[in-house]
Amino acid sequence: MKSIEIKVQIQVFDVEELSDSDRHLVERAKEMTQTSYSPYSEFRVGAAIRLQDGQVFAGSNQENAAYPVGSCAERTTFFYAQANAPEVAPEAIAIAAFTNGHFLEKPISPCGMCRQALLEAETRYGTHIRVLLYGTDGVYVAQSMRDLLPLTFDGSEMA
Ligand code: THU
Repeated sequence: MKSIEIKVQIQVFDVEELSDSDRHLVERAKEMTQTSYSPYSEFRVGAAIRLQDGQVFAGSNQENAAYPVGSCAERTTFFYAQANAPEVAPEAIAIAAFTNGHFLEKPISPCGMCRQALLEAETRYGTHIRVLLYGTDGVYVAQSMRDLLPLTFDGSEMA
C-alpha cells in the first residue's frame, strides 16, 4: 500500500496585516453581502475578485424560489468578471458572509461547485488565484484555488 499526503498551508491574518489591495478586496466583499438576494436562507454572502490589471468585480449570492436555480456569490462574481474581462486573469478573490445581523467569526469557504468553477481560471490562464476568506476572528488566506480542491479534475484527462 502506498499513500499520498497532500499538504495545504492556510495563513491567518488580521485584516490590518493585509496589503492595501487585499484589504480593499475584503472590504468590497463585506459591502457586497448587503446586496445579497437571499430571502430563503437569510445568509448573505459577498465576493470580490481582483484581476491582474487591478480591476475589481464584486457580487453576492442570488437565490430563487426554485432553490437550485440560485447562485453563490463566488460564481456570480466570477462569471461577471470573466464575461467582462475575458482576457485578464483573476488574481485574488475575497469572500465574506453576514447573517443574523453580523459577520461570521469563522470564515466560510467556497462550496465545491464554486471551487471547481474558479479553478478553471487557474487552468485557463496558467496562474493562481489567492483566496481571502473573511471572518471577524481573522482572514484565512490560501495561495491557490487548487489548495482548496486537491486531486482536481481539470479536463486534461479528456485529451
Ligand atoms: N453561499 C454562497 O454564496 N457562497 C458560499 O460559499 C456558500 C453558500 C450561498 C448559497 C445560498 O444562497 C446561501 O449561501 C445558503 O447556502
